Amino acid sequence: SEETMSLPKDFLWGGATAANQYEGGWNECGRGLANVDVTPWGPDRRKVMSGTAGVHSLDDSHFYPGLEAVDFYHHYKEDIALFAEMGFKVFRMSIAWSRIFPKGDEEEPNEEGLRFYEDVFRELKKHNIEPLVTITHFDCPMYLITEYGGWKNPKLIEFYKRLCQVLFTRFRPYVKWWLTFNEINMILHLPFMGAGLEFEEGEDREKAKYLAAHNELLASAWAVKIGHEVNPENMIGCMVAAGEFYPYSPMPEDVFLAQQKERENLMFIDVQARGEYPAYAKKLFERMGLDLGMTPEQEALLKDNPVDFISFSYYTSRCVSTRPDAGEQVGNAFKGVKNPYLKASDWGWAIDPLGLRTTMNSLYDRYQKPLFIVENGLGAKDVPDADGRVQDDYRIEYLQRHLQAMKDAVELDGIPLLGYTAWGCIDLVSASTGEMSKRYGFIYVDRDDQGHGTLKRLKKKSFDWYKKVIATNGEDL
Ligand code: BG6
Repeated sequence: SEETMSLPKDFLWGGATAANQYEGGWNECGRGLANVDVTPWGPDRRKVMSGTAGVHSLDDSHFYPGLEAVDFYHHYKEDIALFAEMGFKVFRMSIAWSRIFPKGDEEEPNEEGLRFYEDVFRELKKHNIEPLVTITHFDCPMYLITEYGGWKNPKLIEFYKRLCQVLFTRFRPYVKWWLTFNEINMILHLPFMGAGLEFEEGEDREKAKYLAAHNELLASAWAVKIGHEVNPENMIGCMVAAGEFYPYSPMPEDVFLAQQKERENLMFIDVQARGEYPAYAKKLFERMGLDLGMTPEQEALLKDNPVDFISFSYYTSRCVSTRPDAGEQVGNAFKGVKNPYLKASDWGWAIDPLGLRTTMNSLYDRYQKPLFIVENGLGAKDVPDADGRVQDDYRIEYLQRHLQAMKDAVELDGIPLLGYTAWGCIDLVSASTGEMSKRYGFIYVDRDDQGHGTLKRLKKKSFDWYKKVIATNGEDL
């Protein structure tokens, strides 16, 4: 029937951003310095993000793209009007923690910071756009890193709870959709970015990462608890960097490795969605000699506060192998081998629309909770033509194919899906590379890798295309 063969009427179409890559205004309204501010563009970036670069501060020898980013701080009215023109029903953004608590451990929040977000939410409301707010998207006040050691210190749970209490209470009239931590599994790959970890000489890095992850998982459960207490209508989700792991060959060792890699990532979601660590995680910790020191109260906290839905990012599937002949390891955060059946983006990310459908099925089979695709898109080099127009047919094609796969997962496989927010709906700074030239947007922003440009916004060809997709609720791709 008509009803079962289309996306739900209230499907949340929109776009996604994050403060650390979009907002800028790093020293406006009393905001404190954050890890993402001191993460430079260029060859030192990777070291900083991995927590192996020692103590950071801003210096003259680097360019720091996150400080100004693309200045949503001063452009939010203009940007939101453009999102509204495309017909967005939802807009994903994140809160800069250090704008609310500049150092992170204060008792009282920064009024000016709260007012900025209130203004943004009012503007969204004016256009009937629902905010979807990520509480933490790769950001942590620098003070909590230098004074407390980042997320490996359980004190951060208390500071995060304070942040949550303030956000849920203050923004109750505006925000119903929340995510606790962006790509929580990224801790294992980029621990300074994911958890404010800076490793010391000789430190057991694996232990530190899992300890930090554990503290974030407890904090996440607190967020769910507090969020539901403040407003029972709040919908609070977890967020995983997803993308099915394929075995490179049918060799049992490859198949087993793919399963292990999957579990490495889904372990976090297992805790957030099912309320306890899976057996394989407990065994891993035992082998590592890691004692989480979990109390019965903490066990109950996790058990009693599972998330309401599972959100995820999907850019690519992954391919892994134990075979030496499978080729070199590729990929920036997630290492794997090249899948010989797929073409890749200019940054080497394999393009795999069917992989999205597979991923959705795996996540739904495992958790049986509604899904929300909160990131997907193609990072590409866009060059405006003589008329200032970006003809991004390659992006339209990528999105068309992924949206078709998404619809198949809903219409043919019966997966409950709450919405879809395209990543970087307006060009912003790339998380992995710090580049501006890795663009995802429907809206072009005039700024280059070194921060030159007018910050002027221009609609790309994909702008009109996405507008049509939303207007037809995905019927006309
Ligand atoms: C996800 C992040 O990893 O992918 C975003 O949640 C990020 O912050 C996005 O920007 C795309 O990755 P990149 O490296 O191309 O910006």
